[in-house]
Amino acid sequence: MNVLLVGSGGREHALAWKIAQSPALTRLVAAPGNPGIETVCECRPVGVLEVAALVDLAREIAADLVVVGPEASLEAGLADALAEVGVPCFGPTAAAARLETSKAFSKAFADRHGLPTAPHVACDSAEAARAALDGFSPPYVIKADGLAAGKGVVIAEDRPQAEAAIDDMLGGRFGAAGARVVIEAFLTGEEVSLFALCDGETAVLFGAAQDHKRAYDGDQGPNTGGMGTYSPAPIATPAALAAAERTLIRPAVQGMAAEGAPYHGVLFAGLMIDQDRPSLVEFNARFGDPECQVLMLRLASDLLPYLHAAAAGGLADLPPPQWRDAAAVCVVLAAKGYPDAPEKGSVIRGVAQDFGPDVAVFHAGTARRDDGALVAAGGRVLNVCARGETLAVARARAYAAVARIDWPEGFHRTDIAWRALPPG
Ligand code: AMP
Ligand code: GLY
Repeated sequence: MNVLLVGSGGREHALAWKIAQSPALTRLVAAPGNPGIETVCECRPVGVLEVAALVDLAREIAADLVVVGPEASLEAGLADALAEVGVPCFGPTAAAARLETSKAFSKAFADRHGLPTAPHVACDSAEAARAALDGFSPPYVIKADGLAAGKGVVIAEDRPQAEAAIDDMLGGRFGAAGARVVIEAFLTGEEVSLFALCDGETAVLFGAAQDHKRAYDGDQGPNTGGMGTYSPAPIATPAALAAAERTLIRPAVQGMAAEGAPYHGVLFAGLMIDQDRPSLVEFNARFGDPECQVLMLRLASDLLPYLHAAAAGGLADLPPPQWRDAAAVCVVLAAKGYPDAPEKGSVIRGVAQDFGPDVAVFHAGTARRDDGALVAAGGRVLNVCARGETLAVARARAYAAVARIDWPEGFHRTDIAWRALPPG
C-alpha cells in the first residue's frame, strides 16, 4: 500500500513510526513532516492547508490511502477533495468534521441524537449571552464556537469573570471562531480521551488515554494542547467504556450517516466520567496529540488495515484491535514560554541516541538548522514516550529518557499519570 501522511507534529511522527512497521506498506510519504518523521520516511514540503497540492501529491505517489493528522486540513476540505479523485482518506469530510470545527453544530447534534452532554445555549450577541448566564450557576463554562487551538474555553468562577470572557470572545479575539459563544453547565468528574475508528457505518473503540492540559505540575498554569498522557487510564473502566460506546459513539456515527455526512476516520470523544457515567465534553475529528503517541506504543495490531478500512469501509470485517498488555506514558518537552510565547531556536542534544526498545522520542516542533543542529521550532517540541509492564515502569522509563536529553531551554511536567500513580 502507498500511503500519504499529512501533518508535522508528534502525533504524525507516532503514526509514521507505527505505519512504517506494517507488512502491508509499500511506500510512505509525509507532508510536510518534521525532522523526526524524516528518519522514518520521505517528507515533501507541502503544507497541511495546501489542499490542491496534497491531492496532486497523493496522485503522484499513487496513494492507496491518505492519513490526515490535523483538523485544519479536514476543515479546509482535504477529505472532500480526495473523494473527488477517488483516493480513500482517513479523516472526515469538512461537513462531518463539524463535530469538532463547530461547537454549536456538535452541541445541537448531541441534542438531536440524545447524546449525554452538559445543558447549554449558543448565543451570537454579548447581550444574549449575558442574559443566558441567568440560566446557569457558577462556575460558568464559556466557549468560542469555532477552532481556537484549545484556548477557546473559559471556566469563570463568578459572573463578572463570565461577562468579561463573553465580551472578550465576541469582541474579535478569535476572529470568526468567536462570532458565537456557547455557555454550558459545569460537569464534575474526571476527564478521559476516548477514540473510535469509524468507516461511515461501523465504529470500533480504539483505546483511551488521559491527557494533562495545564502547563505545570499539579494541574496549575495555563491550558495547553496537552503536556503528557498515559494509557490505559483507570477512570476508563470497562463499564464506562461500554456506556460511552452505547450512548455516545454508536449514536454519533449513526446520526452522522442519517444526516448525510457519514463519518470516516477517528472520532475523539473528550469525556467527563463520573461514577462510570460518561458525558461528552467535546468531539474532535482526529487523533489526540499527545494521546495518539501512547496508543501507538500500546497497539499490537498492524495499524494500516484499520486506517484503510476506516477510510474505504470494512471495519466490521476486521478482528478487534489487539493492545499490548502494557502501559505507556508520554512526557511532552515544551519550549520555555509555552503556551503564550515559546522561545524558538535553542539547540537540543541527545535526541538521536538509542533509548532501547521500549522508548520512543517523537518530534513535534523541531527543525534542522542549516548546520544540521536540531532546534526548537514550536511550543511543544518533543514527546518522550515509554511503555512498560506496569504504569510505574513505563513512567520511570519515560522520565529516565527525559533526563538523557540535553535541552536547558525546555520544560516538562514531572507528574504525568498522577491520577493513577502518586508522583515519585
Ligand atoms: P474543550 O475545548 O471543549 O475540550 O474544553 C477544554 C477544557 O475545558 C476541557 O478539557 C475541560 O477540562 C474543560 N471543560 C470544558 N467544558 C466543560 C464543562 N462543561 N464542565 C467542566 N469542564 C469543562
Ligand atoms: N491533547 C488534546 C487534543 O489533542 O485535543
